[in-house]
Amino acid sequence: MNRNIIVLDTTLRDGEQVPGAKLNVQQKLEFAQQLKRLNVDIIEAGFPASSAGDFQAVQEIVRTVGDKVSITALARAVKNDIDAVYESIKLAQHPFIHIVLGTSNIHVDKKFNRSKEAVMQMGVDAVKYAKTLLPEVQYSTEDASRSDFEYLWQTIEAVVKAGATIINVPDTVGYAVPEEFGELIRKINERLKNLNDKVILSVHCHNDLGLATANTLSAIHNGAGKIEVTINGLGERAGNTSLEEVVMGLKVRENYYGCKTNIQTTELLKTSRLLTHLTGLDVQVNKAITGENAFAHSSGIHQDGLLKDRQVYEIMTPEEVGGESMELILTARSGRHAFKNAVEKMGFDVSNAEDFEVLFGKFLALADAKKEVYDHDVFYLVTNHRTLD
Ligand code: KIV
Ligand code: ZN
Repeated sequence: MNRNIIVLDTTLRDGEQVPGAKLNVQQKLEFAQQLKRLNVDIIEAGFPASSAGDFQAVQEIVRTVGDKVSITALARAVKNDIDAVYESIKLAQHPFIHIVLGTSNIHVDKKFNRSKEAVMQMGVDAVKYAKTLLPEVQYSTEDASRSDFEYLWQTIEAVVKAGATIINVPDTVGYAVPEEFGELIRKINERLKNLNDKVILSVHCHNDLGLATANTLSAIHNGAGKIEVTINGLGERAGNTSLEEVVMGLKVRENYYGCKTNIQTTELLKTSRLLTHLTGLDVQVNKAITGENAFAHSSGIHQDGLLKDRQVYEIMTPEEVGGESMELILTARSGRHAFKNAVEKMGFDVSNAEDFEVLFGKFLALADAKKEVYDHDVFYLVTNHRTLD
């Protein structure tokens, strides 16, 4: 039986921290509604203590989609932040409070300038207080991947005993590499199962080394049951783990991972495009899953193979992620098979082999001159050729 992986989308919290990605309340609501259609399990709606505007946006998101999707929001380990989260999400059907506090030496020494014991106690007190408000509390051990393992574990043990129901392990600065991060999750998972097997183990990765997807998949392989991701990998610096990459990774490699998600994958492209539209931040053309070229094929060898059987060069179909169909870009490297397919799709008869060879020669000349040949070029080429006949 496939293990279900819980998907938390933090585009509206971590993603929105990106310069230039600020959304107004109306835009956030539109995006939250699309996240509901995408069927994410949890929306992290914001950081309500940060501003009155953020507080109000979280409340509005709760009113709009909080009856269907679980909602959380971020708090530092202080009473005011926790109160702000509670007040903004309390009307959701399944609300929970998300507390973050660092565990690495650099956070303890430089950010808090307190002893490790004092920082851990702050976390425990915060969880105990949050538990007086809501039964579900997530605790994030910020900068976990650069933390001393024994202190990290002592913190996890202490906050679980204080009532935390989800432990989130962030690779805050994108420092981890897949084998190491997987091993960290395996060790935590093993101990956590003995401590309290109801607690959910979650991961949250950043992409500074371009490894967020790999690290998240490695964590899942080693026992993580929940992931924190964003659409298009939007997030601070090089971004967060991209939702669409991990979800399709699990789907395409289901036999390997033995995991599934509740994501409606046919909504992926629409969600990605909506985010681009709302933020004005484009996705790179060769971005996996949602980039403009993700399902475009231009080499003749590939086009020929695809026309024989799509599986020859397709590990997933564009239709699965909500795209129209595979795209064959005609270039001088496209062979006869791809060109013939394009011409026939327009309704022209090219059964005369000799005539087709002449037409193909004209196509190659045009492709050499133009680099890429579009449908309107092909149409012009054929009609012009036929008129001259
Ligand atoms: O990157 C990080 O550590 C975070 C936490 C709040 C989970 O965003
Ligand atoms: Zn983050």
